[in-house]
Amino acid sequence: MLSIPLEIRQIYETGLVSGKSGRTYEVRDAIDREEGDFLFNLIRHDPTICRTLEVGCAHGISSLYICSAIRGRDGASHTILDPFQHSEWDAVGITNLQKAGIDFFTLIERKSELALPLLVDRMEGAFDFVFVDGRHTFDHTLLDCFYATRLLRVGGYLAIDDVGTFQGVRRAVDFLINYPCYQLNGSVSTPIRRSWRNRVVRTAMATVNRSTWAGILSDRFYGRIFDDLVPRMVALKKVAEDRRNWDWHDETLSLTDAKLGQHDCQTPSQSANRPTLSEDLT
Ligand SMILES: C[S@@+](CC[C@H](N)C(=O)[O-])C[C@H]1O[C@@H](n2cnc3c(N)ncnc32)[C@H](O)[C@@H]1O
Repeated sequence: MLSIPLEIRQIYETGLVSGKSGRTYEVRDAIDREEGDFLFNLIRHDPTICRTLEVGCAHGISSLYICSAIRGRDGASHTILDPFQHSEWDAVGITNLQKAGIDFFTLIERKSELALPLLVDRMEGAFDFVFVDGRHTFDHTLLDCFYATRLLRVGGYLAIDDVGTFQGVRRAVDFLINYPCYQLNGSVSTPIRRSWRNRVVRTAMATVNRSTWAGILSDRFYGRIFDDLVPRMVALKKVAEDRRNWDWHDETLSLTDAKLGQHDCQTPSQSANRPTLSEDLT
């Protein structure tokens, strides 16, 4: 089993990266180690993952993790969509990849909402893994995931970052997990530290069955009272073709229903023993 590459460890240790101009910057907006390890392990555990796609590169930390995990596999290729890699990020992301000796990536400097539909035209069902970490509005995230669903083959994975940080991303993921073609595969989550007031409310409410509250309260309010973990990064597995009917609409489930595991970080092997999202509810 490969370990986390030296380049990534050095970046986390120094907190510094450098760009094409030679200037040095503090790392920002990147996934953290736990999230990176989660992506790396998910990909390493599945040797069929060779073709990967990423929305949002910035300093290239997630790119380094993903590329390191597929490195050496037959047909390994990584596609990156980021319109601002040169204009705003001084090409730090791709500089990091080049320094790590990674030469199997393609950077497309276009906005994902415009580039993804073009990719679908040429590469529908061709990707094994898609990571979404671009513009974090509800509609951008939903669009990225909509096209990612078409770009992924059955058996591929969709990972989404910042689910707990941005309400728009959370809403998009809450909607997406209702797609019949997806199963929750794992997550990186943070335990919630509860105030004494919240614990009192929770204890008082525990006199009534939780499923009753679930039917009465909004998802958001239910989550604030009963969730033990906040998901930060989520991975879904595409388990079937997306064959929703033209009038499909379903918002029955949300991540709150998923009862995320007690482990902060669930690798696919750990999550394999967990019930699926739909089984959780039965
Ligand atoms: C949070 S950062 C990505 C961090 C990176 N995934 C990592 O962990 O190292 C978000 C990135 O999305 C890019 N971005 C912003 N709008 C975008 C769009 N419409 N399409 C694609 N990428 C976009 C930004 O330039 C930025 O690099």
